[in-house]
Amino acid sequence: MFYFGVDYYPEHWPEERWSYDADLMAEAGFNIARLGEFAWSRFEPSEGNYDFGWLDRAIEILSDREIRIVLGTPTASAPPWVMAKSPEMFRMLPNGSRVPYGHRREYCPNNPTYIDLSKRIVSALAEHYAERLEITGWQIDNEFGDRCYCPICAAAFHAWLRDRYGTLPILNQVWGTAFWSHEYTDWNQIPTPLADANPHNPGLALDFKRFASDSYVAFQKMQIDILRGKCPGHLITHNFMGFKYPKLDYFDLARDLDFVSWDNYLRMQWTINDGVDSRAAALGHDTMRGLKGRNFWVMEQQSGGGGWECVSVSPRPGEIRLWTYQAIAHGADGIIYFRWRTNRFGAEQYWHGVLDHHGIPGHRYEEIKRIGKEIRNLGETLVGARIESDVALLLSYDSRFSFQVQQGNPDFDYGEHFQDVYSGFAQQNISVDVVQPLDDLDKYRLVIAPALHVVSDAVAENLKRFVQGCGVLVFSARCGVKDVANAVVDRQLPGVLSEMCGTVVEEYDSLPTGVENELEVDHGIPIEGAIAAKYWCDVLKTDQARVVARYTRNYYAGKPAITLNNFGDGKVVYLGTFGEEATYASIAPWLMSLAGVETGINTSRAIEVGVRIKNDKRFLFILNHGAKDEVIKLDKQYHDLLTDIKPITGDIHVAPLDVKILIEIA
Ligand code: GLA
Ligand code: ZN
Repeated sequence: MFYFGVDYYPEHWPEERWSYDADLMAEAGFNIARLGEFAWSRFEPSEGNYDFGWLDRAIEILSDREIRIVLGTPTASAPPWVMAKSPEMFRMLPNGSRVPYGHRREYCPNNPTYIDLSKRIVSALAEHYAERLEITGWQIDNEFGDRCYCPICAAAFHAWLRDRYGTLPILNQVWGTAFWSHEYTDWNQIPTPLADANPHNPGLALDFKRFASDSYVAFQKMQIDILRGKCPGHLITHNFMGFKYPKLDYFDLARDLDFVSWDNYLRMQWTINDGVDSRAAALGHDTMRGLKGRNFWVMEQQSGGGGWECVSVSPRPGEIRLWTYQAIAHGADGIIYFRWRTNRFGAEQYWHGVLDHHGIPGHRYEEIKRIGKEIRNLGETLVGARIESDVALLLSYDSRFSFQVQQGNPDFDYGEHFQDVYSGFAQQNISVDVVQPLDDLDKYRLVIAPALHVVSDAVAENLKRFVQGCGVLVFSARCGVKDVANAVVDRQLPGVLSEMCGTVVEEYDSLPTGVENELEVDHGIPIEGAIAAKYWCDVLKTDQARVVARYTRNYYAGKPAITLNNFGDGKVVYLGTFGEEATYASIAPWLMSLAGVETGINTSRAIEVGVRIKNDKRFLFILNHGAKDEVIKLDKQYHDLLTDIKPITGDIHVAPLDVKILIEIA
């Protein structure tokens, strides 16, 4: 079933309105609603006194209209009586102060009292709804994140470290605590990295980020265990925050879930000229698909202007539909809009939903109703259709966390670099997977490892295996710098990757803000356009690899910046610097030709092309994110599934913000 629905908070509205709302939802084509996510105070008004009657009534009204339910566990926002139990439940910020009551996500995920109260409310909900067939599944909590630095977390960190290292001498050795006499003789001496503007030991700092991530994985697992035990027939998910959210290892968080869902807000700008970066959303979708290597849902799809104190630009007519199909093009099997009706109260008074405060359907409702009609025809055809990619990007949370400890260059950002590389490949209109460095890479021809900073021996072996088996592997600068304890390796960079790169970093230069180098591509290498070198220059030295490009400025002008090495049956490219989206768009066709990957349809940047495959049928999505009519050249005959026109062939027009879903006619 393709799920199409809305995030709904009946507890915010008079009960007399519920049936009317449900009628409108059914008319829009919704077959699912997410409920209950922040309703702890209504579920358990005082300790141990549960009231699910109101939710039962809301569910009944919805299921009378064949709208199924995702239930949220309410632990992201606790009522005052819960938080009044102990001041220790409040999360501690890196500056040592506690989060005050009054927003949400105030809790420390390791606090035993909070864990106990969470267990109880989740168990009560699970028992009450276990047998209910209207429930498709559960969303646990809401958008996990936010590290806690409190003493309880410090103790849990010590246990985590003991588990990881076993003994203090080993910990002291891998963290290199001889530096500044930090040699620990008792686990309790190890601090949490509270901020006093001075950096901590990078080994400790990275491990604390891993530990903080694991804390939420464990908090989530506690809830999953309860739900699996009591409601074995229900699916379980969590709403992630896309590629951009950097504080949790999302691969770990996804592991115990049945499927991943995420919250997709594209138009959070305050001026219309800022525009929407469709490629940021595309990377979000591909990352979410990559977390479990399977299709996902959008649990919150923006359906109105967002904002707390200020209101962002409202989605332009057509954008909600375009974003919906963009998600589907990237593998979404469920789309849920945030939220039904804009609330009159609370911090999100101005976070607009499908309906405005007044509750009268307007053009956003009509647009969604149109999508609903289209999905009614197409949803079942598309659901489960997979994405096939020859190209993968390696997302390493170890590296991402390590760069949070030490950026290296003040203008460098791992997430932005990753996005630039991704966007350069997106220009080729091919599908890209986002996977972990330890995943099985055999099914790919081309793998790109942007700034793979922290490299374990196991990762190095996995990459070697991939290349020896005919793969083409691409590194950018700052790869292989750190071991898993976040210590700099004791050999020439890129450390354990040097052998396969056939090149070493002789020295490096961190560029001042605004200063760039430029590369000159060697004869015979088919890369078009100038290549900028930003933030960082690895000066390479090789007598084995072929030099692809050299620096043109500075005292290392003429020295290699990009090299290409044959290794086993494959090839390894080392890009010794960082570029921008345009840089990677220039280099991508060459890398793809090295790997024998075909480019997709050639289009302007405004156009995005996606392919989903089911039963040997290829569904071609053509999305126009721009403000101009675009002409696309089709080389085969197609059936246009949205208009039901066939055959279409040759030049087709795609209007601004419009989408085509085409299937080849055999
Ligand atoms: C997030 C949350 C929602 C809501 C929206 C809008 O994605 O999951 O509860 O707060 O943002 O702010
Ligand atoms: Zn804590």
